[in-house]
Amino acid sequence: MSASGGLVANQNLSRADTITDRVISSFEGCDSDRLTEIMKSLTRHLHEFAKEVSLTTQEWMAGIDFLMATGKISSDKRNEFILLSDLLGLSSLQVAINERVGDATESTVLGPFFVEGAREFSNGEDISDGANGEPTFVSIKVVDTSGAAIGDVTVDVWGSDADGFYDVQYDGDKLFNRGRFKSDEQGRVSFWSILPVAYPVPSDGPGGALLKATKRSNMRPAHLHFALTKEGYSQVVTHLFVAGDPFLGNDAVFGERESLICEFTKVAGDIGSSDPRRRDEHYEIEHVFKMAQI
Ligand code: BEZ
Ligand code: FE
Repeated sequence: MSASGGLVANQNLSRADTITDRVISSFEGCDSDRLTEIMKSLTRHLHEFAKEVSLTTQEWMAGIDFLMATGKISSDKRNEFILLSDLLGLSSLQVAINERVGDATESTVLGPFFVEGAREFSNGEDISDGANGEPTFVSIKVVDTSGAAIGDVTVDVWGSDADGFYDVQYDGDKLFNRGRFKSDEQGRVSFWSILPVAYPVPSDGPGGALLKATKRSNMRPAHLHFALTKEGYSQVVTHLFVAGDPFLGNDAVFGERESLICEFTKVAGDIGSSDPRRRDEHYEIEHVFKMAQI
C-alpha cells in the first residue's frame, strides 16, 4: 500500500507515461463528448511532444514567457495568437480540414485584417479611397456549383496599400481599400482597387521573434482578400493571389492554393474611354467564384 492510502496502488506517480494516463482519465467526468475527445487528444499530443524533445525546465519556461508576451501584445486591433496559429500553419490546416464543399472555390486563411461592417459600394466604384498603388479593375462573377449565377451574395473585399499595410495598421480610424458589395442578378461584382503587393506579416511581436529565431521569411505573396456570404450557401473566405509573385510557395502563413493564383493583366490606356481611369495604363483581373449550397 502506498503512503497515500492505496488510492493509487500499483501506480508509479512519477513515471512519465503514468502522468499522461492520469491526465487523460481526469477528463472522464466531462459532460461533452466532443470536449472530452479534444482534451484527451490534446493531452496525448502535448505530452508526446514534451517527451519527444525531452523538454527542459528552461525551454518550458521560455515557452510560457513567449505565450505571456503573445497575450500582452494582443488587443482588440491585434490578435497575436491568431498570428501564431497562422505562422505554424494551423490556421491553413484547419481551413483545409473543414473544406472543401464539392466543387466550390477553395478557402484560405482569414488573416487578422478583416473588419466587420465595411463601407458598402456599388458595382464599378473605387474602393481604394486614396490608397497608393497601381489602379486595378476587378470583375468577379459568383456562381453555384452547376454554373448558375447567384445574385445578392454579400462580397467583402480587403487589401493592403502599395507599401504593404492595411488601413487598420495605421494610426487613426481611416479605412481604405476595403468594401462590401452585393452581387447583381448575373452574379457580378466589379470595382476599382489597387494591384496587390507582397508584404511582411506583423513582425514586431513574438510571432516575428519566432520567424527571426528560426530564419523564416515573414513575407506573404501579393493577394486580395474576399469573403462571400449568402444564406443557404457555404461561406467562402479566400484570396486571389497574383501570378508570378516571387513569394508564392513560400507564404509565411502557408495560405497559398494553386487554384487561387490569377493573372492580373496589365492593360494599355485607352484615350477614348469614357472612364478617366481607363485612359491610363492599369491592371485588370477577372475571376469566377463558386459557392456550394448547404
Ligand atoms: C493577411 O493576409 O492579411 C494575413 C494573414 C495572416 C497573417 C497576417 C496577415
Ligand atoms: Fe492579407
